[in-house]
Amino acid sequence: MRVTVLGGTGRIGRRVAIRAAEMGHHVTVLARHEPREALPKGIGMMSGSSSNRAELRTALAGAHVVFDLTDAVKHPQRLVAGARAVTDTIESLGQTTHVVVLSILNADTSNWSYYAAKEAQADVYTRASFPSSVLICTQFHSFLDMIFSRARGLGVILAPSGTSFQSVDEDEVADELCTALSPDPRAAPWVMRGPETLTGREAAERFKRTTRSRRMIVGFRLPGKIGAFFRTGFNLTSEGKRGYRLYRP
Ligand SMILES: NC(=O)c1ccc[n+]([C@@H]2O[C@H](COP(=O)([O-])OP(=O)(O)OC[C@H]3O[C@@H](n4cnc5c(N)ncnc54)[C@H](OP(=O)(O)O)[C@@H]3O)[C@@H](O)[C@H]2O)c1
Repeated sequence: MRVTVLGGTGRIGRRVAIRAAEMGHHVTVLARHEPREALPKGIGMMSGSSSNRAELRTALAGAHVVFDLTDAVKHPQRLVAGARAVTDTIESLGQTTHVVVLSILNADTSNWSYYAAKEAQADVYTRASFPSSVLICTQFHSFLDMIFSRARGLGVILAPSGTSFQSVDEDEVADELCTALSPDPRAAPWVMRGPETLTGREAAERFKRTTRSRRMIVGFRLPGKIGAFFRTGFNLTSEGKRGYRLYRP
């Protein structure tokens, strides 16, 4: 099949592009910048933006499956605008393309602008005239790395208090997304979660032990709407496919 990966140079997109190529598909990646590490031979790279309709038209023409794995944390509305542009482009090309998008567990329960945009992005595809699939997953292991690496300059590891995490391995998420390339892909949203639930402190202790860090662990309260989301436990679930790779920074 012809597969286009929007955001195919990113954390998940790159993994999906490589996996899809290994499965024998003809893969094209669209991203605005060249990747830091070249993509394997055989994967086509197109420089362009999912908000540019002319570039999208070229990237999407003839695609049987499109993965939207773009991200825009600082400008979340771009995710929604991108989904609309992708939808319009596929519809104007008159193709039956299957679009697969990655969303975040319980994003619909938060009014944080990023989560609201993730929900709206998935909604655009769900309402489109072509088939779409939404994989809803918990935070990546690298999300925890990002938190624990943050206060390096202060000589501490910040451990979010009053919250737990079910982080999931990025390779496993990419593999799960690629099940959408099977002859009978899922139509309904499906969920993937990490294999274990760790409190913020337990995760920080694992980070400290595994990275042999000498920094002291200090509790802190995640601020704002995102803090409230995590403390309420909206990031945890007992449902869906359970990954098996533990958090090992
Ligand atoms: N982080 C988590 O814990 C988590 C959990 C669940 C779901 N997700 C979702 O997973 C998705 C992928 O996340 P990620 O961490 O893999 O993101 P990432 O590493 O930041 O990669 C984003 C990719 O999108 C590309 N991109 C951004 N804007 C673009 C545009 N306008 N047109 C074309 N390409 C564009 C980037 O390349 P350029 O900048 O060069 O364009 C890059 O290739 C996101 O939608 C995120 O919400 C994340």
